[in-house]
Amino acid sequence: MAFGQKKTIEVKDQNFNQGWLFKKDTLKGAEITSYYDSNWRKLNLPHDWAIEGPFSIKNNARTGGLPIHGIAWYRKHFTIDSKNKNKQISIEFDGVMSNAKVYLNGQFVGERPYGYIGFELDLTPFIKFKQENVIAVRVAPEDLSARWYPGAGIYRNVYLKINDNIHIPQWGTYITTPTVTDEKATVKIQTTVKNTSNNSIKAILETTLKNSNGEVVATQSQNISLAGISEQKVNQEIEIKNPTKWDINAPNLYTAVSQIKINKVVVDEYESNFGIRTIKFDANNGFILNGKRVAIKGVCLHHDLGPLGAAVNFRATERQMQIMQAMGANALRTSHNPPSPEMLAVCDKLGIVVIVEAFDEWKMAKVPNGYNKYFDKWHEKDLRDMIKRDRNHPSVIMWSIGNEILEQAKNEGWELAKHLNDICHDEDITRPTTAGFNYYPEPFTNKLAYQIDVVGMNYWPADYKEIKEKNPNLIIYGSETSSQTSSRGVYHLPIEYTEKHETNQVSSYDTTVGPPWAYAPDVEFDAQESNSFSLGEFIWTGIDYLGEPTPYGGKDNATNGYWNSDWPSHSSYFAPVDLVGIPKDRYYLYQSQWTSEPMVHVLPHWNWKGKEGENIPVFSYTNCDEVELFVNGKSFGKRVKGKDFTEIPSEYHGFKRGMYKSKYRLSWEVPYSPGSLKVVGYKNGKIAAEKVIKTASSPYQVKLIADKTVLDESGNDLSYITVRIEDKEGNLCPIADNRVEFSIEGQGVLAGVGNGDATSLNSFQANSCNAFSGMCMLIVKSIDKRGEIKITASSNGLESNNITLKVK
Ligand code: GAL
Repeated sequence: MAFGQKKTIEVKDQNFNQGWLFKKDTLKGAEITSYYDSNWRKLNLPHDWAIEGPFSIKNNARTGGLPIHGIAWYRKHFTIDSKNKNKQISIEFDGVMSNAKVYLNGQFVGERPYGYIGFELDLTPFIKFKQENVIAVRVAPEDLSARWYPGAGIYRNVYLKINDNIHIPQWGTYITTPTVTDEKATVKIQTTVKNTSNNSIKAILETTLKNSNGEVVATQSQNISLAGISEQKVNQEIEIKNPTKWDINAPNLYTAVSQIKINKVVVDEYESNFGIRTIKFDANNGFILNGKRVAIKGVCLHHDLGPLGAAVNFRATERQMQIMQAMGANALRTSHNPPSPEMLAVCDKLGIVVIVEAFDEWKMAKVPNGYNKYFDKWHEKDLRDMIKRDRNHPSVIMWSIGNEILEQAKNEGWELAKHLNDICHDEDITRPTTAGFNYYPEPFTNKLAYQIDVVGMNYWPADYKEIKEKNPNLIIYGSETSSQTSSRGVYHLPIEYTEKHETNQVSSYDTTVGPPWAYAPDVEFDAQESNSFSLGEFIWTGIDYLGEPTPYGGKDNATNGYWNSDWPSHSSYFAPVDLVGIPKDRYYLYQSQWTSEPMVHVLPHWNWKGKEGENIPVFSYTNCDEVELFVNGKSFGKRVKGKDFTEIPSEYHGFKRGMYKSKYRLSWEVPYSPGSLKVVGYKNGKIAAEKVIKTASSPYQVKLIADKTVLDESGNDLSYITVRIEDKEGNLCPIADNRVEFSIEGQGVLAGVGNGDATSLNSFQANSCNAFSGMCMLIVKSIDKRGEIKITASSNGLESNNITLKVK
């Protein structure tokens, strides 16, 4: 059951995550009820077996170096009370990675190849009441099936649903708001009602709308009569006076509670969250939300959660988007697949607009075991189901039918694009379709780009103008931008302009780029500013992900031309935030362009032993008017935004174009002397922001800083604890790599560790981790009991540190 839609009466959906048995093996007959499974591993879902490691897949680092492939079985024994004998029983998976085949009591129930799509299977014909039932799920993810880390296993939530014969089925409401003004909104609710009995039935559908405080704002009832074994769509239109709109700065949600009553008895109740807002896309004025232009400051994200792998977790997802929002982001593109239901619930809640993307491949293969194998048979069902699941979310603003689809350069590709576009419009009339094109001009000359509503360009900032001049009616934006690479806290001197370095790290001066199509964020800022018709941009990516360790990897004959890595690099360097969620310097470059609350940032660190007296380049990113730099209290002068600039190399689709004068970066060359490096940002001549970095002396202590000190007892809440290596004064030791050991006592367990180093082979499940550039991350999960969690971090030769979290 998707987040934001749930059953709420006695026969409610049961979370079906607990008490599964797991074995990773090619077993014959493991679907049979009596199959011996007593020695299988016990676990709770969601589960991603690949994240348990080890990092061993050197020849396909596109998937994070982790063993995602192979066959595994999950089994669960359960009983159903005989009072449910006349009920409809089904199981809903939010997603299984991948090629799931589901059996109940030895009988085949159904299958779903695509790992990102949710599906429900009817168990009623196979279920036994008051006796033991065994559900068995065979999972078979394949190597070379994705260009990124897909994860492996039943990695999203599972629900058991017990429904009355008369009920609202999966994704059973479709809520739109055909008219919205400040005074009133019309809410149109299309409710599917299903009768699985042979008898015809008369019932009442009562829909109640509640505001975000839970107050009832409107109710409407309707008589319905259903023939035996039938399904009906019931349309209701309800007016809300003075609606509170959903907006990026005020994400107000409403809830529709749909009840089916027979003889005054409620036999089914179904809740759907929705929002009231208007969206418009204009060829000249961009994206209009509730009548106002919103420049899209977007991020692309893959679905993995760093050290937690692909196993979904609400808090981990929420934290990702809070970090993105603090950078100034207001939009997400779920590259390149349908997201978890949790992600859309988070975006609804935080006020982030979303492009939900369906595919990375159609019929033509990018990887041998990719979606192309399933496209013909499954694409229509997968696409329709994606839209049915997600179309009530106010955060969702567009449906993407594909990313860099290879058919974009083929003459016949437009037919497929039109077909997919039509499916989207058939399921949802309220949102435009889009796609991300990396070829130019092919999709325009073969007319494929004209089959969709909004044209996304991947990595073509210098051509927006020309595209627009040639296609004045097209709505355009940067669906993927920049792809610059860097390693958090790493600086190579002198500043380098080539990507590769012997350490497999990329310098955080952000003067090099990654793949040939990549370019610095500055170039895109410029392009967006000078092409105001563009909706905005989606950077590649917001947060580092497992796999695709560009520039340390490439095509290789040993892997049939697929992807190898410069081992041990195995996770990405693309994002302004590392794999564990710690900002790199580039985060502040985006913040300087995307936020207005005064901020100033300075780099590099100030620990350059042996370089005393030598000139060190210092960069500052700010949204203030000007910045003054001080070293040990001595001013090195002010730099003014809009007047001063920093030269960085410019590269574009493989062409080196000399140096680019970036007005988004201020810089100085200053002789190094240990002490303090301080930047002061001025707005209208007044001090508005400050940042100081101090030279650290030798590592002295470990310091723990938790993002959350009170956790809930759901058993799924997380605290992300930043681990810092500090000197005696509490300064970060910026090049420290000390190993830190963790002990966790009480009502919590270790969920993962990591340090954001793309070359680190430290297991994400270990209870120790090396610092990288002075920091690492410990992720602790609450168990379902109240109490305390005591965490101790110790490191050889350093003072240890402990903190206590509460579980309430
Ligand atoms: C794009 C692609 C992304 C990612 C990126 C790296 O072309 O759509 O999935 O591979 O390149 O720069």
